[in-house]
Amino acid sequence: MNDTVKHERPDPAPAGAPTGQTPYSAWMRTDMLHSLQHPVSDHPGEHAWITSVQVSELYWMLIIREIQIAQAQLRADDLAQACRTLQRVVAHHEPLNATWRSIAWMTPTDLLSILSRAVATYGKDTALQGWTYRQMVYLLGIKQAEHLQHFMPQPQRWDQLNKVLAEPSLYDDVLAYLHRRGLAVPAAVLDRDFSVPYEPGKAVEQVWRDIYAGQDDNLGLQQLGETLCDIAEGFSTWKHLHLMATRRTFGGRPAYFGTEGIAWLLPTMNEIPFPELWSARGFIGDPPAVCPHMRK
Ligand code: HEM
Repeated sequence: MNDTVKHERPDPAPAGAPTGQTPYSAWMRTDMLHSLQHPVSDHPGEHAWITSVQVSELYWMLIIREIQIAQAQLRADDLAQACRTLQRVVAHHEPLNATWRSIAWMTPTDLLSILSRAVATYGKDTALQGWTYRQMVYLLGIKQAEHLQHFMPQPQRWDQLNKVLAEPSLYDDVLAYLHRRGLAVPAAVLDRDFSVPYEPGKAVEQVWRDIYAGQDDNLGLQQLGETLCDIAEGFSTWKHLHLMATRRTFGGRPAYFGTEGIAWLLPTMNEIPFPELWSARGFIGDPPAVCPHMRK
């Protein structure tokens, strides 16, 4: 007796879904998503490389959207919702940073056999040509106009990044919000040209010190400060993992600019968002200054 079960194909296209799709595949665009990996080499690990970079791209875009939502909430003076949104940004850094595990198996031979095929297929590339990362970095307040040069072949992205460069960053919106809450953020900080690199200053340091002065005062603003620190930590952790992956797979070779890749990357480790929130920690919690004549 043949007990093979013969399955009949059910009626296609459930209500609402386009022909040939399920509601899940229509909503998640799975056919399109899984058509986006096109290896250039015959290295069996290239799929892991492409997937890892593409997942990072998706998370960078997600973080961009979240930061823009948080900026709108801050502009509407809705601190509670802005903090909730920024906590999602903190959460997104966890899977983003975990993507490095997916390519931790790579030796220099693995990486170079893939990269050499990419150069032969598309030309000399650098991740500095990635606009999502740059937009996220601009939104975090690290404004370096020189990176725009990489987008000359992509005029639409050049325009988009140029606009983001000239607009307030998340930190600018935080400082404007603190000003509206009555804290002494100088007018020169609020009215500056947003396209030039932010210059940290003593007055804003003092603002953060005042926010943290009393353990139980300004709890909402302290929570905002701590959430921003978590975001900066997540961002810097990504940079550290990237640097270690570069050391591991590339060593001291010259990179895109002809100089040693690690030497190019090392100074960028000091690009930590929200500068005075960190520098103020050198004196937050210090006892108030006392008049020397009062000392016993
Ligand atoms: C593991 C092998 C990797 C090596 C050896 C490497 C190497 C480098 C080097 C040398 C630079 C400096 C600019 C240049 O010369 O191109 C750079 C920048 C960068 N790379 Fe990588 N990279 C690796 C993997 C990745 C991956 C997987 C991603 C994305 C998921 C990525 C994203 C970036 C970004 C966003 C920058 C700009 C960093 C900044 O502006 O501070 N890299 N990389």
